[in-house]
Amino acid sequence: MAKIIRGGTIVTASDTYQGDIRIENGLITQLGKGLSQEGAEVVDASGLYVFPGGVDPHTHLDMPFGGTVTADNFETGTRAAAFGGTTTVIDFCLTNKGKPLRESVQTWHAKAEGKATIDYSFHLMIAEITDEVLTELPAIIEDEGITSFKVFMAYKNVFQADDGTLYRTLLEAKKHGALVMVHAENGDVIDYLIREALEAGNTDPIYHALTRPSIIEGEATGRAAKLTAMANSQLYVVHVTCEEAVKQITEARNQGVDIWGETCPQYLMLDQTYLEKPDFEGAKYVWSPPLRPKAHQEALWTALSSGQLQTVGSDQCSFNFKGQKELGRGDFSLIPNGGPCIEDRFSILFSEGVRKGRLTLNQFVDVVSTRSAKLFGLFPQKGTIAVGSDADLVLFDPDAARTLSVQTHHMNVDYNPFEGIAITGEPVSVLSRGEFVIRDKQFVGQAGAGQYLKRKRYQGAAYAGSPAKANGGADHV
Ligand code: URP
Ligand code: ZN
Ligand code: ZN
Ligand code: ZN
Repeated sequence: MAKIIRGGTIVTASDTYQGDIRIENGLITQLGKGLSQEGAEVVDASGLYVFPGGVDPHTHLDMPFGGTVTADNFETGTRAAAFGGTTTVIDFCLTNKGKPLRESVQTWHAKAEGKATIDYSFHLMIAEITDEVLTELPAIIEDEGITSFKVFMAYKNVFQADDGTLYRTLLEAKKHGALVMVHAENGDVIDYLIREALEAGNTDPIYHALTRPSIIEGEATGRAAKLTAMANSQLYVVHVTCEEAVKQITEARNQGVDIWGETCPQYLMLDQTYLEKPDFEGAKYVWSPPLRPKAHQEALWTALSSGQLQTVGSDQCSFNFKGQKELGRGDFSLIPNGGPCIEDRFSILFSEGVRKGRLTLNQFVDVVSTRSAKLFGLFPQKGTIAVGSDADLVLFDPDAARTLSVQTHHMNVDYNPFEGIAITGEPVSVLSRGEFVIRDKQFVGQAGAGQYLKRKRYQGAAYAGSPAKANGGADHV
């Protein structure tokens, strides 16, 4: 049955207006004031914002890592995402050297199928460039619609690729219209610093941060940016944590390099002192790159609001404290890296961004949804509210006051890194392709209802656009 979302304040990356939305067969078919409700179920959205569903460009669900497997799989992770206002996730498909790429993609399809409650897509990790990989890539792009590749510059002897691989991946991406993503840290130097710390008997979680200083995130970011310029290619730097990396991205952008930057709520909200929590609790806050001294947070907010960073991903990669984070008791280098954030990303950005005056409403939509849809070939199917777009919508109460907590979150993990933090704003109802997944804060979705999204090729810097302005014209659909 058709639906009318009545009387909400519709917000996109470019517009804010009062209006109704008509939905038929999963698509938005009409926008306007006082739309006829003939043959339609009416959903009252008065007093609520209606946002496009969040697009989370960075998740790790059901991922083996650090001698264990993430606590959230595609079912629990996407259900929590939906509770939080996210209706699309792009997950990282890991690959293994010497194994066909297609085999890895099949493995990832098997993890998601029948489980995902919202739509999903995959980025593909490139571990090395071989003749086989070069032969396979064009078909993966064409058949699977996988138009973004991930290269790790860190995690030596695990995921790390060498600079030659990064450079050749950039060349291939340029040739085929794909976006290269990097985890930018100098893995070789980190490996040395870790061994040095452990030999000195420094085993506590704080040494995770101290062995991965921001200077080598900046160094790796600058190196990747320069290789991108050389290859005349395009680059997206994931999980930017520090001023040094922002500076490299800004400089490269100013020189005309097609480079984009993502940060994550944890780097905007938490700082390095969390790693010093007693009784090994610091392990809960082990991400790579690590949390930084507090001064970096303002640099990240400034970069987001000025458009030098363009997106916010969750980097969802949850491990239980009990039994998983605890693997690193006595040796910080064995603490599984990552944390849960898929559910709280959207609301944290609203509360800390919009309510605190750091982002306009339109910028908020841009960083949590629209820009990722554009960069990763999903726009305008995803990432906006327009006639013809998928009816992925978030009915959002901007005044709901709440406290983030493991007691109330829906992720399948035994702690919340934002425990006790008070925020304002909460999704009330969430629709995926016109069907409620969350209705009045209750889950009414279905495992397996999420569809795999084949993505379009990378369309270039001009298409991905300039930063959203409040009620401004640029990206108007
Ligand atoms: O610590 C993190 N970020 N874990 C997830 C893997 C990655 O590097 O993104
Ligand atoms: Zn990473
Ligand atoms: Zn990640
Ligand atoms: Zn418009």
